[in-house]
Amino acid sequence: MSGADIIDGKAFAANVRADVGKQVDVLKREHGLVPGLAVVLVGEDPASQVYVRNKGKATVEAGMHSFEHRLPVETTQDALLKLIEELNAAPAVHGILVQLPLPDQISEAAVLAAIDPAKDVDGFHLINVGLLSTGGEGLVPCTPRGCLMMLKDRLGDLTGLRALVVGRSNIVGKPMAQLLLGANCTVTVAHSRTKDLDEECRRADILVAAVGRPRMIKGDWIKPGATVIDVGMNRIDDDRPGAEPGKTRLVGDVDFDEAVRVAGAITPVPGGVGPMTIACLLANTVTAACRAAGIAEPEV
Ligand code: GUN
Repeated sequence: MSGADIIDGKAFAANVRADVGKQVDVLKREHGLVPGLAVVLVGEDPASQVYVRNKGKATVEAGMHSFEHRLPVETTQDALLKLIEELNAAPAVHGILVQLPLPDQISEAAVLAAIDPAKDVDGFHLINVGLLSTGGEGLVPCTPRGCLMMLKDRLGDLTGLRALVVGRSNIVGKPMAQLLLGANCTVTVAHSRTKDLDEECRRADILVAAVGRPRMIKGDWIKPGATVIDVGMNRIDDDRPGAEPGKTRLVGDVDFDEAVRVAGAITPVPGGVGPMTIACLLANTVTAACRAAGIAEPEV
């Protein structure tokens, strides 16, 4: 039985973060520039609190300034928009991230539209969405950027490869498809309503799963030797023999135990794509800071 190479996202992300740290050192030493990232959290969603804490910690570890704004769950849209205006105008802030989801009284679209596109390190502003789809130089959403980095590291030039993206979200699926198109892949976007999804999968040299359905993609759907990137993060009851009753675990959108026998390389869940998202957020913040200062990004 052959087995896929396991792509170690944790190690990969550690390398990206170390490179960002080196870039920040150069920016400080040669330009007196300290990139700054502002993260805004409205409410007390436990998962969001963990993400925000981890983002702040990683920002400081990379040598950058971290500005955290925690607002109560009853915050009005006007109050949040006022804060965004202040952050847009603050010279020490190069990147702004408003953690999603937002409470019901606040329109996500209004908030994303209010962020200065040059500081939009999530890449969610319509200007950045448009730039990505027209081949321009905007800011690219973090998770798809991380996936592309891992694919290029594994495969080198992606030209001519057949890529299937399963999932059509604005945060992952659609920008992922644009990035793969930009890398000269032949791209198909599938989703939960796609007919004969197994057949679509079997044609793909690159399969990116971001559909949010636990272990939906089976081992015999995968083309032998394909590179599989699993963006799924689904919490399920731990169904392994011997697991304590009531315990849960994280699984991806791909049935890893089956797929690992067929694929050429695969990202595990956890420890695959997840750690790359924060690493790319830091990289986007350096990009935004350099562009704001009109200097080239340091090569490290
Ligand atoms: N919530 C879940 N994922 C994300 C993300 O990538 N960016 C933001 N801002 N919020 C999120």
